[in-house]
Amino acid sequence: MTQDEMKKAAAIKALDYVKEGSIVGVGTGSTVNHFIDALATIKYEIEGAVSSSEESSKRLKAHGIEVFDLNNIDILDVYVDGADEITKHMSMIKGGGAALTREKIVAAVAKQFICIADDSKQVEILGKFPLPVEVIPMARSYVARELVKLGGDPEYRLGVITDNGNIILDVHNLSITDPKKLEADINAIVGVVTNGLFANRGADVLVLGGKNGVEVIK
Ligand code: 5RP
Repeated sequence: MTQDEMKKAAAIKALDYVKEGSIVGVGTGSTVNHFIDALATIKYEIEGAVSSSEESSKRLKAHGIEVFDLNNIDILDVYVDGADEITKHMSMIKGGGAALTREKIVAAVAKQFICIADDSKQVEILGKFPLPVEVIPMARSYVARELVKLGGDPEYRLGVITDNGNIILDVHNLSITDPKKLEADINAIVGVVTNGLFANRGADVLVLGGKNGVEVIK
């Protein structure tokens, strides 16, 4: 099985968590693209979706799946999204696709976070994947200096503007032993919109594609 086939297998398995007649929270990325394609096969059984990015909204709409404004939704049973890294404690680094802020917002509303990934994403300690931080453009240099004080090496992601009109700093060389604290500390820097640590609201279920099939970890 290739890495993409493992992603696809996990994405298809995640359909088990989609309730009939519900609105589904949908993340962003290549694994989620497989999920959206799988969701299209049961589109008449759901009411629609709430999306975490313009990219996912476009794909959902292309399949004829209605995309709702999160502000008009009271209940979201599940949010399905990928991860760049995930630990056994279900803490994640996300934001490789620069959609971290909207992802965090939709995840906050959802009752259950279903993470779909191939098994290369499982790690002991977070931080090998550079931590994305979404920043208000005028605060870029200030925030970068503050991130250096926290022990990281921030790098400006050239040519990327988020769906919210902001920039991304990718923070290298962090060994994240206390992800909940670091998530809060980075979010407390003025000018940071949010960072890609999903520890205070981690995943509830991990659907992991591997060489021998799909494993569901709770
Ligand atoms: C996007 C994300 C993605 O979930 C993460 O980057 C994983 O992507 P992929 O499924 O392509 O490996 O956080 O902002």
